[in-house]
Amino acid sequence: MADAIQDTFKRPLRDLRISVTDRCNFRCAYCMPAEIFGEHYRFLPKAEILTFEEITRLTGIIVRLGAVKLRITGGEPLVREQVDKLIGMLSPIDGVDDVTLTTNGFLLPQKAQLLKDAGLNRITVSLDSLDDTVFRKMNGNRSSVQKVLDGIEAAEKAGLQPIKINCVVQRGVNDHTIVDLARWAKDKGYILRFIEYMDVGTKNGWRMDQVVPAQEIVERIDAVMPLVQTKRNYQSEVALRYNYQDGGGEIGLIASVTKPFCGACSRMRLSPEGSIYTCLFATQGTDLREPLRSGASDDEIEQIIRNTWGTRIDRYSELRSEQTDEDRAEKVEMYHIGG
Ligand code: GTP
Ligand code: 5AD
Ligand code: SF4
Ligand code: SF4
Repeated sequence: MADAIQDTFKRPLRDLRISVTDRCNFRCAYCMPAEIFGEHYRFLPKAEILTFEEITRLTGIIVRLGAVKLRITGGEPLVREQVDKLIGMLSPIDGVDDVTLTTNGFLLPQKAQLLKDAGLNRITVSLDSLDDTVFRKMNGNRSSVQKVLDGIEAAEKAGLQPIKINCVVQRGVNDHTIVDLARWAKDKGYILRFIEYMDVGTKNGWRMDQVVPAQEIVERIDAVMPLVQTKRNYQSEVALRYNYQDGGGEIGLIASVTKPFCGACSRMRLSPEGSIYTCLFATQGTDLREPLRSGASDDEIEQIIRNTWGTRIDRYSELRSEQTDEDRAEKVEMYHIGG
């Protein structure tokens, strides 16, 4: 394993999250509200998006600098044509221990087996509610619950395990359906993770009163299916983990708002057009596409990445309470750099 580079707080680089497209076939109100991302919204043109060869080259360099885990995200990564081919190029890179992908599940029936065959280890599927009316309201009426369940089943059949389910909880929107979702995931043996609604980007109109604190989520589930807290799997894990007392599985809480986890944050993000970001809430990235396309050597690109990580001071979630609305104005969007 490479000696990982460290930032100003001595946090090592361990995870690389690769966003392969800024497009998505859903319109979740908390991410890409349909009123803003309509027919005329201009997504990145193809020429501006990194090719698979370019992504693979940059990934090779970032892995040499310490990253051991790759997560493919978007937008919706499965809308990028032949994304399985990219997985097939990334998974053999020396030093990569884990390749996974976060998807809304819609295209999994067609793609799950191709992804597995290409070397994908496991998968995370977003599903905010089992109530079809609630779910449609949240995804901009782009998908039924059943369609996502079909995708999850396809992933299970293909052997993409363990399967994790992400649920963003919004007060007054889907919080009355979280116990049902937990019961279902428990029965199925999936690891369900509840995510506190976050103030990522600038387009979702985030308000603190829409956040259901992780502690409250735990209490509501514990009242019906008793839980016991357990330790993190690894230091930089974002989720607080709980086991069911009856031994029937686990849930995770991603409490980015009420219990920030910047202290151990080892994540770098690569955007579809080739910039690296050192925080989900960054206002600016560092462009690697220009040097890449103008003939820079691997060593030169490595130096840019080293400098970027070496000067990293991000801990946005820990500082959130001190931020004003103006400070929030320029943040990068979630659909752009992936969750
Ligand atoms: P595992 O590898 O399975 O542990 O997954 P992970 O914890 O990387 O999970 P995933 O990528 O599914 O992250 C779940 C959610 O946590 C994301 O979709 C984001 O909403 C949130 N999240 C992940 N990384 C960060 C981060 O660095 N900062 C903040 N604030 N939220 C994050
Ligand atoms: N707050 C919390 N989670 C979010 N996601 C997207 N936008 C937000 C937000 N504002 C989640 C998605 C998906 C993952 C990629 O990020 O639901 O599970
Ligand atoms: Fe698409 Fe995921 Fe954003 Fe929903 S949260 S709009 S599925 S990228
Ligand atoms: Fe890492 Fe930024 Fe998230 Fe903190 S807010 S955990 S620094 S990505």
